[in-house]
Amino acid sequence: GTEPEELHRRIIARKEELADRLLLLCHHYQQEAVFRHADATGDSLKLARIAAENRDRDYIVFCGVHFMAESADILTTSEQQVFLPDLRAGCPMADMATRPEVEWAWRELAEHIDVDRLVPVTYVNSSAAIKALVGEKGGSVCTSSNAEKVLQWALSCGERVFFFPDEHLGRNSAAAIGLADETVILWRRGQPLGGNTSEQVRNAKVILWDGYCTVHMQFQPQHVEAWRQRDPAVRVIVHPECRREVVKLADQYGSTEMIIKAVSESPAGSKWAVGTEINLVRRLQDRHPDKEVHSLSPFQCLCSTMYRIKPAYLLWVLDNLAAGKVVNRITVDSETAALARLALDRMLTM
Ligand code: 13P
Ligand code: SF4
Repeated sequence: GTEPEELHRRIIARKEELADRLLLLCHHYQQEAVFRHADATGDSLKLARIAAENRDRDYIVFCGVHFMAESADILTTSEQQVFLPDLRAGCPMADMATRPEVEWAWRELAEHIDVDRLVPVTYVNSSAAIKALVGEKGGSVCTSSNAEKVLQWALSCGERVFFFPDEHLGRNSAAAIGLADETVILWRRGQPLGGNTSEQVRNAKVILWDGYCTVHMQFQPQHVEAWRQRDPAVRVIVHPECRREVVKLADQYGSTEMIIKAVSESPAGSKWAVGTEINLVRRLQDRHPDKEVHSLSPFQCLCSTMYRIKPAYLLWVLDNLAAGKVVNRITVDSETAALARLALDRMLTM
């Protein structure tokens, strides 16, 4: 194999060669060897905005997961091309809501409630097909940094919200805007009426899909309690993909961008236990040697699909671009893209 330093040097050289034709975007969960080559970094919302704003770049290389590259393709012009360095870099949560499953649920609900007054909201961690369905039905996309606002908007447009695919972001956001627990119900895939009674559905304000993030589900209430006992000065900050019990016990919660802001702006000597992906936690540790930054969990919670983006694959895509060859391009067909754009634009203009 090629040495890390050699890969690093060759990526820099290719980036110089491609110059302003290229925009290299990295999500905060990317490994450092990839992350250090980013032209721009961010959470899902920020990266979507950056992709939409940079209309002059021919090539957008997205170091993140599949749905992010899809969103970038939807938000850019048809001349611009979006690339994902490893096509196997998906998001398990996004795969938990498929279009046939959601359509099936919608038809079932139509027998119990007025689905014209049911507003769908999808977390950006979803396929383009789901975003298109949401766009078509008048709903919106949300991210971890605006889920509360989007939920409030959706409830002002209709009677109820159907929220995909992350149960926990949905539940945490519903609680944050003051909805009573009994008005938030779970739709369990594979069960008649999602495992609910007709009355429960009629009384619901928010119906949550039963998707989850395998990484953030690893954080447990006892991890928060352990830090509280070990050192009461430690502030606990978590991502809203964590289960409700964890978010409730934490001092703060928010998107990756918000977690970075909180830790960065805290005074020297601050102590943090952070409930999110390990690459971001490590980066915070490296960048803030004057602070104590720990992972909330004693285990390293790694997003293995984000981790599939390796420097060698990034270089391979750049080498091909420099040679005028297209590899690992992500495209969304124009019909799906047009409907998905409706849902993304509703969020971006909110
Ligand atoms: P944000 O960066 O938007 O907070 O999302 C986290 C995440 O899990 C992305 O897959
Ligand atoms: Fe998906 Fe979770 Fe990985 Fe984010 S951290 S990409 S939600 S599996």
